[in-house]
Amino acid sequence: MMRKKWGFVLSSLMSVSLLLTACGGGGGQQAAQPAGQAPAESAAPSGDGQSFVFKAGHSLTEDHPYHVSLKDMAKRVEEKSQGKVKIEVYPLSQLGAERELTEGLTLGTVDMVITSTAPVTNFYPKLGVLDLPFLFESRDHAYKVLDGKVGQDILKDIESANIIGLAWAENGFRHVTNGSKVVKTPADLQGMKLRTQENQIHLAAFEALGAKPTPMAWTEALTALQQGVVDGQENPAIVANTYKLYDSKQTQMSLTGHVYSAAMILFSKPVWDKLPADVQTLLAEEAKVAGKEERELMIKMEEESLQVLKDNGMTITEDVDKQAFRDAMKPVYEKFAGQIDQDLLNEILNTK
Ligand code: PAF
Repeated sequence: MMRKKWGFVLSSLMSVSLLLTACGGGGGQQAAQPAGQAPAESAAPSGDGQSFVFKAGHSLTEDHPYHVSLKDMAKRVEEKSQGKVKIEVYPLSQLGAERELTEGLTLGTVDMVITSTAPVTNFYPKLGVLDLPFLFESRDHAYKVLDGKVGQDILKDIESANIIGLAWAENGFRHVTNGSKVVKTPADLQGMKLRTQENQIHLAAFEALGAKPTPMAWTEALTALQQGVVDGQENPAIVANTYKLYDSKQTQMSLTGHVYSAAMILFSKPVWDKLPADVQTLLAEEAKVAGKEERELMIKMEEESLQVLKDNGMTITEDVDKQAFRDAMKPVYEKFAGQIDQDLLNEILNTK
């Protein structure tokens, strides 16, 4: 039975050999590239025509749920395929930062990625609706939307950007950190130099708040914080913890929760299209399990992360004037009204 299931038929063998020819042949065991650089050679599946090795990249550390869930997925996939499908997981932007990773998916130079959605919007603009500040009331609201019709339609439709949407995962609610002052209202952010993600809506949001946002890849953010190029940044508590932002001059975290940063497990369509159906099914099923596991780990780690930040001298400010932040975001909704699918936006806002 297993032999039949994994005994690849002639068409599979042909597609793999075509792929290997197109990619210059079996690069599956190449060393990871230095941080911030896209791999020079294709990371397309490789092997002897019966087995596959995929490279999966992300920007976070090995103790972050992005990594843990992908490693667990790799283990299950290897076991279930009896060693014929392997996934190598590269943390710390070794295969590139999130924008580069996403581009790599569209080109077929990166196989698989877990990433926050903000940089993906640059390749699939419909996703921009998720970048709107204060869109989701709660984690449950986000889950209902992403696990419901809206989220599932997006996972299918992102194929139009040459990317296969496998599953939703989570980066978390984003909070502002800085090294100089307690932030409770937008007025406290006036003139503050903040690193933001490379995303037009995030940029406009922080401009509307009176800050001086500087979009850059996460690979550049730590140096920018350490060298004082920026005073602060915004990310979930788990990122602040796993990257020890208290060692990068960050003494304050304000629980602004201004954006729910969803994450996605994505696959390269150019690579996917050459895979046998049973490999696609296995990857699709196990990515869903990984997305679920990742979210569960995120929930578990959140409180723990806030405690670690406190233990390392950071002040966590909870009494943020969220209404003032929401009010300041109205011009952002107006500015992007023409670019955001309003039906989609209403569907999200009306999901209870
Ligand atoms: O700020 C970012 O770029 C993202 O939140 C990060 C840290 C890479 C995680 O997805």
